Amino acid sequence: MLKVTNLTKIFGGLRAVDQASVEVAQGRIVALIGPNGAGKTTLFACIAGFLPINQGRVEFMGQDITGMKVHDIARLGMVRTFQITQPFAKLTVLENIAVGSHQLHARRADALAHARTVAQQVGISESMLEQPAAELTVAGRKRLELARALATEPKLLLLDEVMAGLNPQEITEIIGIIRKIREAGVTILLIEHVMHAVMSLSEHIYVLSYGKIIAQGAPLEIVNNRDVVEAYLGRGAAEQMAMASAENPHA
Ligand SMILES: Nc1ncnc2c1ncn2[C@@H]1O[C@H](COP(=O)(O)OP(=O)(O)O)[C@@H](O)[C@H]1O
Ligand SMILES: [Mg+2]
Repeated sequence: MLKVTNLTKIFGGLRAVDQASVEVAQGRIVALIGPNGAGKTTLFACIAGFLPINQGRVEFMGQDITGMKVHDIARLGMVRTFQITQPFAKLTVLENIAVGSHQLHARRADALAHARTVAQQVGISESMLEQPAAELTVAGRKRLELARALATEPKLLLLDEVMAGLNPQEITEIIGIIRKIREAGVTILLIEHVMHAVMSLSEHIYVLSYGKIIAQGAPLEIVNNRDVVEAYLGRGAAEQMAMASAENPHA
């Protein structure tokens, strides 16, 4: 579904993404992990058309989309969420979601109705829908970010740290929501630091370090990879991840 080949992105003198190749097959949940500053968000921005790239190629559903505009890529069915959420603060939660729904539903009433069903999918309660988005908690904002992306009815969803700042209970809930989104037929590529979530959700993991993909493989291969443990995980984290992956039916 997604094929990224030798993608390079240079900021000034910095190779933020360096010859990175990533593939995501239809129906999968694939994770992209790596230390802060590794280039993960930049890679997402390049894939989804937010940043021009210096080298490489991006194919989506067999089509070369390198250099295409964000809106055209979204129309083909690929959307990303933002690590730093930016809802329209003065619009209500429902109206924010309906911005995404408008792409498919031209009439305002239809877009709002569609937005309600999407809100349900991500566990946004009825009582939150009429609140200004600015009043949401961190967990509420993360759900809204997910809902805004889902409202465009994507085929491929790029999730950038949707669990950051959430408590364990909220993380468990988001994991369930992501599973359901995949079961509804959406392919997912996710950036995440919450390792037990990565291990329990994903079937394949890419590891980025200093802009380069230094490893890829099944979750258990990754936790047992010496380079990955040294570059990112540390031994304690690797042991926790191995335990979490034992609970993943797809790993
Ligand atoms: N717009 C930008 N201009 C210049 N440097 C940037 C820009 N965006 C990110 N960077 C730099 O690129 C590197 C990768 O950042 P980022 O992709 O945000 O990493 P990650 O998401 O893995 O934490 C960092 O060194 C960051 O400071
Ligand atoms: Mg990032």
